[in-house]
Amino acid sequence: MTTASLDILRSLPLPMIAAPMTGVSSPALVVAACAEGVVGSFPTHNAGSVDELDDWLSGMSDRLVGVPGAAPVAPNLVVHPSNRRLEADLACLRRHQVRVVITSVGSPAAVVPALHEAGCAVLADVATLRQAHRAAQAGVDGLVLLTAGAGGQTGHANPFAFVRAVREFFDGVVVLAGGIADGRALWAAQVLGADLGYVGTPFIATCESVASDDYRAALVAATLDDVRLSDAVSGLPASILAQWLDARADAPVTAGDFQEERLVANPDVWSAGHAVTQVREVSSVAEVVARIRAGYQAARGLVELAR
Ligand SMILES: Cc1cc2nc3c(=O)[nH]c(=O)nc-3n(C[C@H](O)[C@H](O)[C@H](O)COP(=O)(O)O)c2cc1C
Repeated sequence: MTTASLDILRSLPLPMIAAPMTGVSSPALVVAACAEGVVGSFPTHNAGSVDELDDWLSGMSDRLVGVPGAAPVAPNLVVHPSNRRLEADLACLRRHQVRVVITSVGSPAAVVPALHEAGCAVLADVATLRQAHRAAQAGVDGLVLLTAGAGGQTGHANPFAFVRAVREFFDGVVVLAGGIADGRALWAAQVLGADLGYVGTPFIATCESVASDDYRAALVAATLDDVRLSDAVSGLPASILAQWLDARADAPVTAGDFQEERLVANPDVWSAGHAVTQVREVSSVAEVVARIRAGYQAARGLVELAR
């Protein structure tokens, strides 16, 4: 049922997903990425309501009709039980016949059958080997491996160890997340055994994102030494700029487990991964993709010459 979508994911000329980001991914960012042949993702909760999600999906597909080489839009569903919109958003994605959905924060088991029935491929993000095994058992088509230094809610695993361990039992699509900001790193992810790279942080400081000007300026100024791990925002460990955390050092910390509402209520958190070091200016999505594409082709050329 999902073979066509998987074939598309595995044959992208630039093997990359513009990762979903709360408070950052806009329809404009997603469309710009897809038009450049990069899978564009956004969390469904970035749309303020199911009606708005419906409008976003219609608008995105209208704008991509007839664009040669356009990659699919891949909405991101937070599958944690605290997501009150889960059922309604899921129904909306099925109505729009999206070809790829990326699940996060929880087991994808409850949504896989409904999405497969609609012909949609499911990628699940995972931060541990245990989560990877469980998601594979739930029948997902792909795994997004969150590794150390990824932006947003991150993992802590070493990417080399994680990809190799997952490849021992999973032959579906593997997407590597964490610190991929140029073409050489993207090619390295494929050499390691991943099919695709998940790129978030480099797209925050783009003209198409909905990040604030101050946040973009902070990203341009920051290096990976400025990224701190904190669970203060959503209850899960996330990569956040130290400057933002320090400015709120006196603010009460909301303790407790992950709650979808807390995440959505804090869209202005200055989150960034270690890839921030390579964010040197505010540019367009097309410029970011062009830079990564050029580096990827050069890296592949170097490797092929050396063979
Ligand atoms: C500001 C920000 C918001 C994010 N929001 C989400 C989200 O809503 N859903 C999700 O699955 N991942 C989210 N992430 C994680 C990204 O999808 C992705 O895993 C990460 O950015 C990849 O690593 P990189 O930042 O090193 O490129 C977010 C990341 C950032 C930086």
